[in-house]
Amino acid sequence: MFQQKRFDTYEPSTIWRDGTAAQPLPAGTVAQGDLARDAALADPPDVTPALLKLGRDRYDVFCSPCHGYDGDGHGMIVERGFPPPPSYHSGRLRAAPARHFVDVITNGYGVMYSYAARVPPRERWAVAAYIRALQLSHHATLADAPEARGRLP
Ligand code: HEC
Repeated sequence: MFQQKRFDTYEPSTIWRDGTAAQPLPAGTVAQGDLARDAALADPPDVTPALLKLGRDRYDVFCSPCHGYDGDGHGMIVERGFPPPPSYHSGRLRAAPARHFVDVITNGYGVMYSYAARVPPRERWAVAAYIRALQLSHHATLADAPEARGRLP
């Protein structure tokens, strides 16, 4: 078992013409589950309380360390010296479509790396929905919750 007839990664090989054991994927190769992931990315789920709960959970785990629990860009990693991200509460990011947030999670943005390997497509939409909720809550007025009138001190 210890001694096996096999190639280590990047070991030279005379079997293939290019002389390496690490062969590139044939053109047109599709990884298992890729088509389903692409479909989930193209098709936003309905926004429900359960989706927002999932989004909050994933956001708190993966995004809050830099973006802060409320999205102002002052998370703990930033406190330790990582470049600060922009606040979600700027006019530009409030006007950005939900897909922009999903795209940033998928591809990364500037110094922010991609979270595609950690946050699957449905959860990306859930995080985008939760960011929208954070933005709305920061700019809410009494008119948005008329039933609260009279109950506030
Ligand atoms: C390790 C720190 C870090 C984490 C974790 C992180 N980000 Fe970022 N994010 C950044 C930084 C820094 C920028 C600014 C990048 C730049 O402009 O170069 C940024 C930028 C952004 C932007 C703004 C893009 C724009 O149009 O300006 C969005 C949206 C965003 N991140 C979403 C997320 C989401 C959603 C998550 C969680 C899945 C996340 N980020 C996790 C550091 C992070």
